[in-house]
Amino acid sequence: MKEVGKIWMNGRMVPFKDAKVHVLTHALHYSTAVFEGIRCYDTPKGSAIFRLPEHVDRFFRSAKLYSMKMEFTKEQITDAIVKTVKASTLKECYIRPLAYYGYGTMGLTPTPNKVDVAIACWEWKMGESKAGKETGARCKISSWIRIDSRSQPMQAKAASNYANAALARVEALNDGYDEAIMLNHHGKIAEGSAENIFVVKNGEIFTPPLSSGCLAGITRDSVIQLIRSDGMEVIEKEMERDDLYSADEIFMTGTAAEVKSVAQVDNVAIDDGKMGQTTKRLQKSFMDIAMGRDERFSEWLLYV
Ligand SMILES: Cc1ncc(COP(=O)(O)O)c(C=O)c1O
Repeated sequence: MKEVGKIWMNGRMVPFKDAKVHVLTHALHYSTAVFEGIRCYDTPKGSAIFRLPEHVDRFFRSAKLYSMKMEFTKEQITDAIVKTVKASTLKECYIRPLAYYGYGTMGLTPTPNKVDVAIACWEWKMGESKAGKETGARCKISSWIRIDSRSQPMQAKAASNYANAALARVEALNDGYDEAIMLNHHGKIAEGSAENIFVVKNGEIFTPPLSSGCLAGITRDSVIQLIRSDGMEVIEKEMERDDLYSADEIFMTGTAAEVKSVAQVDNVAIDDGKMGQTTKRLQKSFMDIAMGRDERFSEWLLYV
């Protein structure tokens, strides 16, 4: 981790190396934290944050689902994010707002503790996550089942969801794959460990509905809007693992992943194992918009 700029903590800008928490912080023990992942892109008109209001809305929605009393308004968090990006001096970066039950009382009940909020950003260069960008990612269907909203609110981007996702990611990597694909308790496709998933078959584009247990991804929504603006439709449909094996194309979407192609699922090559035309087209359109090279959806960019 390259320590650049400052980290915003409860309204104060703190030097990167001093942004510390107490070891008895509630969230450290009980996973009582929610967070966001946002990108800032270096565009011809300067640095721009991608879909910031939507990320801030989801951040507050996540906090509400964990009964967090935020001491800051959406406007204050938005300003703090912009301030932190500016202080970083980075032209493009990844932004991580985090809200967590802090230090105070120990024991399972989080609510007596104050909700602390922090915002950090770090360098994340374009093309850093290579698998899936030029050649397709090799994915393993995880033996870990995606937890679902019978257990905890999956529309919250909560730290506690990510133990499950991290197990899947590590299993996939240990088995020589680039990424995991997770099934839900009904054996239907849910999502990747940190990405939504799309399937192209016979000229139609499918994605699992939110009821599959996947996160309401902001990149997922962006790509759906892009596809619609091209006069096509995305069909939300429950899918089995054989829908993946027999797909013409598979791609994943996410703030970190952007639009990445999947070349292989388990030991099955997807079509000829090369990136398909639909994926290529969407990847280009998405990047052109995010990088400010395409005026369509220019309202998605907030220049800092
Ligand atoms: C589990 C999960 N699904 C999907 C996504 C994609 O969401 P977004 O496009 O909002 O980054 C993410 C990334 O945040 C994720 O962690």
